[in-house]
Amino acid sequence: MKPATPTAAPVRATTRVKVLPHPDLCPAGTEFDAKAGRKLVDELLEHGVAIEHACEKVCACATCHVHLRSGAEFVAAADEEEEDQLDDAWGLDAQSRLACCVKVKGPELVVELPRYSKNHAREH
Ligand code: FES
Repeated sequence: MKPATPTAAPVRATTRVKVLPHPDLCPAGTEFDAKAGRKLVDELLEHGVAIEHACEKVCACATCHVHLRSGAEFVAAADEEEEDQLDDAWGLDAQSRLACCVKVKGPELVVELPRYSKNHAREH
């Protein structure tokens, strides 16, 4: 007799990403379905949100800073490297994450883009 196959919880293949309006990057806001497991920065770029990513997405610049206004509980917590980079981000708050470090997961993520990136903040 074959052993019973364990029943795993269904794995969600997509996550609804809602991006709040940002005057330069996304004036009307946007929504899209992102593939679970992909970097949030890649999904944003592929869906027309030209977020900065000066270090080419290797957690070394903090220009891809975002605020996860909802859904953060579904994604893995920031590690020490990300926390160190976030210290340099403009407009840091308790919901700050680096979009190149966040792997999309969960039913929905609500993303707010900071008014300025770290690079722009130097000019203001
Ligand atoms: S792109 Fe540089 S830290 Fe995310």
